[in-house]
Amino acid sequence: MAAVTAQEELLTFNALMADPSGGVSAALAVGRDFLTQTPRSELFANVGKTIDGIPSADFPDKRWFQRSYGRAVTANPEELLTGAGLFYLTEQRKLFLDCTGGHYQMTWGYDHPELRQLLLDGIERGIVWDNHSNIPPAPVKRLAAKLIELVNPGADPHELVNDDDRLNTVLTGCATGSVACAAAMKIMLLHYARTKREKGAPVFITLDGNYHGTDFFAQRLRGMWPEYFTNVELVMVQPNAPEELGQVFAQYGERVAGFWAEPIMMNREAIVIEPEYLQLARSLCDETGALMALDEIQTGFWFPEVIYTKRLGVQPDFIVLGKGMTAGFHPLAALVYRGRLDVLEQYDAISTNGNAALAAYLALGCIAMVERDAEHIGEAGEHYHEGMKELAADFPELLVEARGAAHMSALKFREVADALGFHRSAVERGLWLRAHAYHEGHSTVLTKFALPMDAEVADFAVAAMRELLEERPWRS
Ligand SMILES: Cc1ncc(COP(=O)(O)O)c(C=O)c1O
Repeated sequence: MAAVTAQEELLTFNALMADPSGGVSAALAVGRDFLTQTPRSELFANVGKTIDGIPSADFPDKRWFQRSYGRAVTANPEELLTGAGLFYLTEQRKLFLDCTGGHYQMTWGYDHPELRQLLLDGIERGIVWDNHSNIPPAPVKRLAAKLIELVNPGADPHELVNDDDRLNTVLTGCATGSVACAAAMKIMLLHYARTKREKGAPVFITLDGNYHGTDFFAQRLRGMWPEYFTNVELVMVQPNAPEELGQVFAQYGERVAGFWAEPIMMNREAIVIEPEYLQLARSLCDETGALMALDEIQTGFWFPEVIYTKRLGVQPDFIVLGKGMTAGFHPLAALVYRGRLDVLEQYDAISTNGNAALAAYLALGCIAMVERDAEHIGEAGEHYHEGMKELAADFPELLVEARGAAHMSALKFREVADALGFHRSAVERGLWLRAHAYHEGHSTVLTKFALPMDAEVADFAVAAMRELLEERPWRS
């Protein structure tokens, strides 16, 4: 074997991890073998347990992180070592079932073999990782075409391209959902300034509990930074309350610039917004000349239809997509909107990394897999949500109802303390799921399983939750 030069040594895994003994590398290798070679029944049996065969290592710590990301946490945090499919191992060697698809973006779980194959295939074919957004390569252009096809099923592209009243335009240049949401907000403001400026300050109507990203203005829409914005009014309404919506539109009339909704409020206890409510919002927007945005950052690419809006019987002016589009590979987001609203200049809303060709290639693969597996995705989602509904029916003293839909299923607890306690016990048990219980009145535990979930996984997860609901270890 040729001797490794000092220069080559700099670029070894151990050097990059500042781990000369190779402990991290060994833990990863054994952990990965464990996840990929252990039969699934055995993985289920070990969920929540420490896997002794995996060596421990001297992992980097979070001392340089900001406080809200765990700077002060020193006591063996269960941070992720490696993952495969729906399972992951922590650095403390504990096995988890990931019930939230990573941070709601790992559409196909960890290291899906078909996506990995596509990634390598793309590189081999010469698809670049990223480049200047003025020279978009084929995968980026093809992704734009695919998104237009998805939101306009059956449409003739030749007619569509010239019909500026249709959803025929895509802003592809965004890496994150926040940038795509902010682009729609800017278009709403510009459109208002051009068509209704004389009416007074524009009004934005949002649902209470909204989350449309971390942009400054998006945060204003959810109540933050009140003192820094003038000449704009924000009104939050309760979801699925048509009378209130009617009243607010009647009160502000043509001053309404825009209406925003997330079809399943994954940032507020998985409340499902009723199609009739959104249809009402559409007609009120039409009456007042307001624009309507559906934020599909959470729902997009997670249902058999790929785009959830297809279920709703409304045509919004904007659909925002992101998160799961590239299945967790380098992020991409997109804003799909009506051609007549194409009023931004190129650099008004952009991420430098938002035209990444390789990521776009993976996005095309991710979408094709959802289309191919649509039937299975539909059945598995329904089966799982049914199981969650049964839990709600069987433990009425603890649970109000099952919320959400399909893979995005949630349990609404009666008491905040039980929601928080259940969440703690579930994580202890090896089920990685999330709780919304930190705002007044919120008491929900949420899941968003990656799409490889099947009946067996669903049954395992529901059975494990049932056991927790029976034993209530958080109360003892
Ligand atoms: C509904 C919704 N909109 C927008 C965003 C922002 O997306 P990103 O984190 O990619 O900026 C999120 C992220 O969680 C979201 O859930």
